[in-house]
Amino acid sequence: MKVLITPRSFGKNSDEAFRRLEEGGFEIIRKADGSIYTEEEMKAAVEDADAVIVGVDPMNADVLSCAKKLKMISKYGVGTDNIDLDYCKEHGITVEITRGANSAAVADFAFALMLGLARRMVEIDKGCRVGDWSKKESLDVYGKKLGVLGLGAIGKGVVRRARGFDMEIYGYDVFRDEAFLKENHVKFTDVEEIFRECDFISVHLPLLKETEHLIDKKLLSTAKKNLILINTARGGIIDEKDLYEALKEGRIYGAGIDAFECEPASESPLLELDNVILGSHCAASTRGAVDKMTEMAASHVLEYFSREESGK
Ligand SMILES: NC(=O)c1ccc[n+]([C@@H]2O[C@H](COP(=O)([O-])OP(=O)(O)OC[C@H]3O[C@@H](n4cnc5c(N)ncnc54)[C@H](O)[C@@H]3O)[C@@H](O)[C@H]2O)c1
Repeated sequence: MKVLITPRSFGKNSDEAFRRLEEGGFEIIRKADGSIYTEEEMKAAVEDADAVIVGVDPMNADVLSCAKKLKMISKYGVGTDNIDLDYCKEHGITVEITRGANSAAVADFAFALMLGLARRMVEIDKGCRVGDWSKKESLDVYGKKLGVLGLGAIGKGVVRRARGFDMEIYGYDVFRDEAFLKENHVKFTDVEEIFRECDFISVHLPLLKETEHLIDKKLLSTAKKNLILINTARGGIIDEKDLYEALKEGRIYGAGIDAFECEPASESPLLELDNVILGSHCAASTRGAVDKMTEMAASHVLEYFSREESGK
């Protein structure tokens, strides 16, 4: 059997997962440079794969239709927007995700972006290196209003961190987790109120038809001038051109962006702005999260095929 493994960081700190897959009877297919697969590369790579451990590489219907032997996809991460789930359902392809493996790492990164932007850390650091010892005025975080869009594993983690900063927290989700809201003093409201009221907004929604370009010119025009917007979820949730305009014209204070509409984001207009801290879709890339995702993604493959073998 063959397993295609696309994420560059899979097994980065230990060979254990590769050893387990090989002992489980798998031949491992990987690309030498570890870069994200293009659609054409993916079509060729999945041709004789029985399983795929996939990162953010395309697994749309065109790619999946080339994967004649594919039985299961083990997502290295939680976002399945790069996988055509309807196609998988129709064709009996099982999809598993590494739920919970990277939520703490992403929540930490979102918080780091908030702090880094509010306190202008990148600018101050750059200044110090060229002899600029001026006091750059920055913004307060402690006690300010934070809006969290998406109160799942990561959003909840951000709320818990914000409580330590005594923030007034607003939350939005399709699902209302009453116990969590009460315990963490979160005001449950809509996206519009969050944009009108909050000093910080952090996005933790999945990318779906309903959330695509949820944050656009109209919503951004209602935001406070000191808004710091963080997106460690998926690029498509924010209209990147509208965000660029708002940032360039100083209509909002800053943005921390780890996920882009098109990745790698070498063409994004956001790259030219100073009031943005950019991430290379790396919010989950801590040693602990990489180890956990590797272990879980490999286990999902092994468990699936061992169930198949035993006919359960
Ligand atoms: N930057 C990174 O490296 C990185 C790593 C992990 C996850 N992510 C992304 O972070 C996001 C959140 O991940 P998570 O693990 O917290 O997911 P999760 O599934 O635990 O939480 C998502 C939340 O969004 C809510 N939701 C779903 N559809 C909605 C809608 N239409 N409107 C409002 N709320 C809706 C769900 O009820 C849920 O509470 C995802 O987009 C994921 O792809 C990014």
